Amino acid sequence: MTDNSKPTYELDDHSRRKLANNIYIQSPHLTGALKRIEHCRSSYGVKTEPDCILVYGDRGTGKTSLLKRYIENNDRHVLDDGNMVVPVFDCEVHAASSVSQFYTSVLRGLRDPFAYKGQTVSKGERLHQLLVKMRTQLIIIDEFHELLDGQNKKVMTNVASAIKTLINQTKIPVVLAGTTTAKFVLDGNPELRRRFKTSVQLPRFSIFNEDEKNTFRKFLAEYDKALPFKNRSNFAVNEMYERFFAASMGLPSGISSLISDAVDYAISDGSDCIKIEHLIQGYEIALEDQTEIPGNPFIVNISSLRNWDVMHPEKHKDVFNSSSLRSHAF
Ligand SMILES: Nc1ncnc2c1ncn2[C@@H]1O[C@H](COP(=O)(O)OP(=O)(O)OP(=O)(O)O)[C@@H](O)[C@H]1O
Ligand SMILES: [Mg+2]
Repeated sequence: MTDNSKPTYELDDHSRRKLANNIYIQSPHLTGALKRIEHCRSSYGVKTEPDCILVYGDRGTGKTSLLKRYIENNDRHVLDDGNMVVPVFDCEVHAASSVSQFYTSVLRGLRDPFAYKGQTVSKGERLHQLLVKMRTQLIIIDEFHELLDGQNKKVMTNVASAIKTLINQTKIPVVLAGTTTAKFVLDGNPELRRRFKTSVQLPRFSIFNEDEKNTFRKFLAEYDKALPFKNRSNFAVNEMYERFFAASMGLPSGISSLISDAVDYAISDGSDCIKIEHLIQGYEIALEDQTEIPGNPFIVNISSLRNWDVMHPEKHKDVFNSSSLRSHAF
């Protein structure tokens, strides 16, 4: 229902599409990750060495979405005395960044209008002053894996060392986020590693044991429930969840891009739910070019689909690894 109690399926097409593209499902592992992040933040002002955390996972497992959500719930605000505070903010590191570019990125995260100005040292000093002024309690640095220089396979130690200094001098906890490579980057920097006692992995969904299967089905059922259609599309029912798993290879990004395109087809058809033909078309548009599976999982009969490698616990990783989904989010 919207504010004026109109059911979402009665909204105009544009609003329905927008709503469908903004669905976020809080699955249990995300709740667990949020708690761990909050725990780190609460070490600010308490511990002399703040608790920092690494959030890692394959591309499209939902790292950035989770962190943006955390920021939304702890967003910048103006205090009664008129001062702006920024308790939490995010920024990114980029491949081949210098320390100066890294400071610019952090200053931009703080929305400093002069983020590009000054030499490295003065930028660093301004950053420290701003962090104090804005009463920041947690800094999120995304795309941390980019610190591994693609060409030289060398970790950009200057930036890693600037992050370490930032933590030491400000005592503000840091969340680093990135692909599984981020773990190697951190392991390659023992001094920085020491400050990151915990890490949390955002996994792909799986259907190879009862608990994981139920979590995946629940995710699909909640997605279905949140869609702006009069009737349910029954994504979580028998067989259908298996088709979704094969199509997305367990990645939330795959599911959301598939559903997003299927929603467009269903809305333009005037359908009261997403039907199999919309998923067939959605898969062709959103995912087909990026997967190494033998056909469209919404067309093939279920017994053939169950014989595909992606549906077998001992073989599915090979399919993930050979698909371009591995390196590109949907
Ligand atoms: N919990 C969720 N519920 C619904 N959709 C989600 C969820 N998590 C992620 N998505 C979808 O997956 C897309 C990709 O997620 P996100 O960018 O957060 O992944 P990522 O792990 O940061 O990927 P990358 O490593 O490429 O940066 C999002 O745009 C969103 O559409
Ligand atoms: Mg991301």
